[in-house]
Parts: sequence; structure tokens; C-alpha cells
Amino acid sequence: MGLKNHRSSAPSVPADVVTGAAGFIGSRLVRRLLAEGQSVVGIDSFDDYYARAAKERNLTEVRRNPNFRLVERDLLGFDPSTVWEPGCRIFHLAAQPGVRGSWGAHFERYLRNNVLVTQRLLEASVRVRPTRFVYASSSSIYGEQPAGPTPETATPNPISPYGVTKLAGEHLVGLYARAHDLSAASLRFFTVYGPGQRPDMAFHRFIEAVRLGKAITLYGDGRQTRDFTFVDDIVDGVLAAGQTEKADGAINLGGGTPAGLSEVLRILGELAGHPVETQSGEAPPGDPRATWADTRRARELLHFQPRVSLADGLRRQWAWQTSADAMAPGG
Ligand SMILES: NC(=O)c1ccc[n+]([C@@H]2O[C@H](COP(=O)([O-])OP(=O)(O)OC[C@H]3O[C@@H](n4cnc5c(N)ncnc54)[C@H](O)[C@@H]3O)[C@@H](O)[C@H]2O)c1
Repeated sequence: MGLKNHRSSAPSVPADVVTGAAGFIGSRLVRRLLAEGQSVVGIDSFDDYYARAAKERNLTEVRRNPNFRLVERDLLGFDPSTVWEPGCRIFHLAAQPGVRGSWGAHFERYLRNNVLVTQRLLEASVRVRPTRFVYASSSSIYGEQPAGPTPETATPNPISPYGVTKLAGEHLVGLYARAHDLSAASLRFFTVYGPGQRPDMAFHRFIEAVRLGKAITLYGDGRQTRDFTFVDDIVDGVLAAGQTEKADGAINLGGGTPAGLSEVLRILGELAGHPVETQSGEAPPGDPRATWADTRRARELLHFQPRVSLADGLRRQWAWQTSADAMAPGG
């Protein structure tokens, strides 16, 4: 990234705050911030959406760093502003993710962890003001859109309850930013993958199936396309958004080159050394046919330039998932 970190060596710079610090993307962000010389306060409840062990592994390395402090709390269970200093930067990644699980009785969890938690953090930010508030939003807010790359100006049209809660979070961020003059941005992540990926996500499930000699289950007709984005490219965009007040409102962060599942399966077959087996499952509601980020805004404001190709990124996730200590941190 072309942006210079003006903050890294100043001793009085307040610690950055990362919510969802034990999660897939949050832990990767924490590592990068620490590597840049920042101090970091990570907040995470270690919720049971997936195994605690995976989240612990995400944090193995950073826990040894004296500049990292972990606050293991539910964000709704305390006043989060008690753990940050005025002038800090807040990277809000904690959430209940997953499109398919957001229907039915589970919605309460989504409402709580995506909407209420975001409002709580924003209220706390009005009391103890950060210099930046960066919110992890999602391409899921778009739902089905006309063919071609989707700009931020497209009308949001979520087709899953998860997407509705992420959009509500964005609205809250925009509302508090205007009403209380907070400097904030909502970054719309497009299907993130790479080492550490959540076990419920497609690539993780695909690699696990191949590893165990099982067939990969493809939902629907398998002809969906996604703008897959490597996790370190996402982290580049998040870091850049933390450094410039010019980047406000919504900004797409996507790989910019959507791919179909046939391409993914071809790459996995090459990695496995044999064609992968597939079986079809029923298409769950909430999954759009296609996603494709228009990244002009991210390029202009954040100098965002995804660097990792799908083939290289999948190879890195494969290496992480199939290594002897399968879930080792790093990758
Ligand atoms: N992974 C993707 O492809 C993707 C795509 C679009 C948007 N996002 C967004 O990026 C963010 C990170 O996603 P991820 O894939 O790393 O998910 P993740 O589940 O790995 O990480 C989220 C973390 O938040 C924590 N958390 C949840 N509720 C909490 C609460 N009430 N208090 C404290 N901690 C809480 C969880 O314990 C978890 O460790 C989320 O906001 C998600 O909506 C992810």
C-alpha cells in the first residue's frame, strides 16, 4: 500500500482497538497492526459459532507480544469505552457471520451481535472519542444486483437476514458519524478467504472434503460466481482506511476478478493432484448468483490494490489447512 503509517513510532499513540480480535479476519488484522509497531487492545467473546480452539490458534502468536492485550468480554456485557483511550482507532470486526444460519430462530444472535453491539460501540465512541471508526460491512448488503461490478451507489437489497443486520450496522455507523461528527467508514468485504478461514465457509469445507477423500457438496447448480478476496488484501484495505479521514461512507473491498466454482474446483484438483469429486445439495436461500466489487472508490481513497490471485491464495489456504499442525497460526 502506498500510504505511510504516520503513527507507528510515536510513543504516545493510543492503542488500536480491534473487536472480533480472535476471529478469522480480526486476528490477521491484529498481527499486521502489531507488526507495524502499534499497540493493540483486542476484544472478543470467543462465541461458540465455531470451535474456541480455532480462535485460540489464531491468537497463539500475538498473545506472546507485550503490545497486545486481550479483553475476553462480550461487547454487550460491559462499557467498551473503559478499555480504550481517546484518540484511538477502532476497527469493529466482531459480528455473527454466515448467511445461511441467519434464518429462523438464530436471527436473534445476528440482531444482537451485529446490530446491538454496533450501536453499543458507537454510543461508547461518543463518550470516549476515537480518531477513526472502521466498520466491517459485507457484500451481502447488495443481494442480487445487475450484471457487472457493483458500485457503492447501487441500492442495497439484501436477500438474507444476515445482510439486513450488516446493512443496519452500516446505517448506524453513518448516522452516528453525522450526528456526532465521528470519522467513520464502512468497508464492504467480498467473500474473504485464506489461512485461518472460518470452518463454515466454502473453501474451508471444500479443502476439508478433499483432504478426507469425500465429495465436495455444491449448492444449487454450482454456477454461482464470487469476487473472492484474499484475507491479507482485505487487511491492507482495513489498515489504509484506518489511516485516512478522507475515506468515509461505504467502500467496497473485493478482489475485483470474480470466479466461478468450476475455476475453484480446477485449482483444488491441481493442488490435490487429482480431479475433485462433487455432489449437489439444495440451494439455500440467501446466496446471490453473483458478486463483483467495483473497487474504484477503494483504489482512489485507499490506494487499494489486491495482490493475491485466486490460484495463489487458494494454494496458501490449502497449505495452511493440510499442514501437519493443520490449524497453526500464520500461513
Ligand atoms: N469472512 C468473510 O468472508 C466476510 C465477508 C464480509 C464481511 N465479513 C465481516 O467481517 C467481520 C469478521 O468476520 P470473520 O469471518 O473474521 O468472522 P469470525 O466469526 O471469525 O470473527 C468474528 C469474531 O467476533 C466475535 N464476537 C461475536 N460477537 C461478539 C460479541 N458480542 N462480543 C465480543 N466478540 C464477539 C466472535 O467470537 C469472533 O471471534 C465480521 O464483521 C463479518 O460480518 C466477513
